[in-house]
Amino acid sequence: MLILRKSKPAPSASIKPISNTRPLILGHRGASAVAPENTLAAFARAFDDGADGIELDVRLSRDGVPVVIHDATLQRTGLVKGDVEQLTAAQLAKIDIGSWFNRAYPALARGEYAEQRLPRLSQVLERCRPRPGVIYIELKSQSGTATDNLVRSVAEAITEFEFQRRTVVVSFDHDAIATTKALAATIRTGALFAPTHRRRSAWRREKILRAAGDCGADEILLHRALVRRNLVEQARDRNFPVVAWTVDDSKWIERAQTLGVHALITNDPAKMLAVA
Ligand code: G3P
Ligand code: CA
Repeated sequence: MLILRKSKPAPSASIKPISNTRPLILGHRGASAVAPENTLAAFARAFDDGADGIELDVRLSRDGVPVVIHDATLQRTGLVKGDVEQLTAAQLAKIDIGSWFNRAYPALARGEYAEQRLPRLSQVLERCRPRPGVIYIELKSQSGTATDNLVRSVAEAITEFEFQRRTVVVSFDHDAIATTKALAATIRTGALFAPTHRRRSAWRREKILRAAGDCGADEILLHRALVRRNLVEQARDRNFPVVAWTVDDSKWIERAQTLGVHALITNDPAKMLAVA
């Protein structure tokens, strides 16, 4: 039976994609949908799957070494009790950070995941040397002077590796972004924003743009719920590339092109790139 469908109206000029190129695809904590997050295996998998870059989280060990882990404690991904900031880098380097994934996702389990140990930032940067791609380093806020030490050691690592042109230091802690810029103006930075349910959206837009400008951020990283046409347009007018986190629905590729979103942070680069 022939089914007649109404033809789709031609897109108006205002909804035509403003970009012909796809957004950058960045692996959130690596390819964390298919490998244990924030491990060397997850970062390698993201690049192998064609990602344009990765996102990772950093904290300081007790002896002041930047290490790569999302949570402040080891409970969820290390399966042991303890705070990251209470252990030395040498102690953290022994923590099995991959077995939890094999237990949680047996269908995706691999022997090599159980061999993953909590990496230092320097180890990740070393592995990234031969891999072209951008690295978004998220500073997880710590208390008072600890944040300043975190900023300083991350800036030192970037400078030592001469990765200024391929890293973006990002944080919800906008003071940490300002400190990064004060320490090393050549390091690219981004301000992170999560949704709040207060006030009108025009007020919120202005607040976001002003906060990003005030801390000297070069980019704005928006939770997907904040990615609206007006905000993205106004951000672009003020020369802030917009990055959306965390999106795993491949419809976001077209949406990003339509809105002019610079990059998408995703747990599953392969899935997103299959569509792109
Ligand atoms: O960098 C964006 C995103 O990673 C922020 O949220 O909790 O996954 O670090 P979270
Ligand atoms: Ca993060």
